[in-house]
Amino acid sequence: MHIAKLVNSQLAYTVQYCLEIIIKYSHRMIKIQNLHKSYPMGDESLHVLKGLDLHIKEGEFVSIMGSSGSGKSTLLNIVGLLDVHDEGQYYLNGQLIENLDEKKAAVLRNKFLGFVFQAFNLITYKNALENVALPLYYKGVGRKERQKIAMEYLEKVGLGEWANHLPNELSGGQKQRVAIARALVTNPKVVLADEPTGALDSSTSHSVMELLKEINKEGMTVFVITHEEDIAAETDRIVRLVDGVIVSDELTGKKVNA
Ligand SMILES: Nc1ncnc2c1ncn2[C@@H]1O[C@H](COP(=O)(O)OP(=O)(O)OP(=O)(O)O)[C@@H](O)[C@H]1O
Ligand SMILES: [Mg+2]
Repeated sequence: MHIAKLVNSQLAYTVQYCLEIIIKYSHRMIKIQNLHKSYPMGDESLHVLKGLDLHIKEGEFVSIMGSSGSGKSTLLNIVGLLDVHDEGQYYLNGQLIENLDEKKAAVLRNKFLGFVFQAFNLITYKNALENVALPLYYKGVGRKERQKIAMEYLEKVGLGEWANHLPNELSGGQKQRVAIARALVTNPKVVLADEPTGALDSSTSHSVMELLKEINKEGMTVFVITHEEDIAAETDRIVRLVDGVIVSDELTGKKVNA
């Protein structure tokens, strides 16, 4: 009886501990605490991120603003496991990111993250379908299957008819849609976009933002860097960075029934 009580209390303790861990991390897709990053500059170093705290919940649509050199891309690259921080903690989907070699980082990137860049970064000699299918190739998906899935995503971004076109036959907005389809094709948890509308005219920019909004409505966490106030205003939350420090973090009031 006594032992049973002890086992029960230990079991209860373990269950409670596990629940606490789950509650603590399950709703936080990105959790950053006291994050620092410096780059070596000759004998000195350039302190770029100066103790950032940032929590992004699953399903949030967040933009980050700040002047050139404030550290936006540095932050996004760390969040995207393309670069490493020097100090502080970064948890992605509850997992502490530390001591990752490139292989492990690539596995996590493939599993959790999709990237969209200002310059689209499409492969020029591959057509739209092949560009979208490429991340599936790296995941070991067979040719037929990846073409089928890639086509679904091209259709989702409204470019089914453009599947056989090379990037140089597409407009800027179309290229960015292909890049978004490519970011989504592996079904990531988070889409990271570094100035996705930076190379687009105003109306094309808004249609790309509409697409990101739709993706977010389906439950995707979206984290986007922008220079433009009206682009940031289309997201649900704006984080402002000045000289490597977060100076404000506010909801835009866009989300109606959060
Ligand atoms: N790999 C690197 N090596 C050395 N310095 C770097 C490196 N990457 C960025 N920096 C420096 O860190 C600072 C922040 O750069 P970052 O690219 O994060 O700025 P940003 O806010 O994205 O600016 P922009 O709006 O111009 O893209 C800049 O002073 C930049 O020169
Ligand atoms: Mg940048």
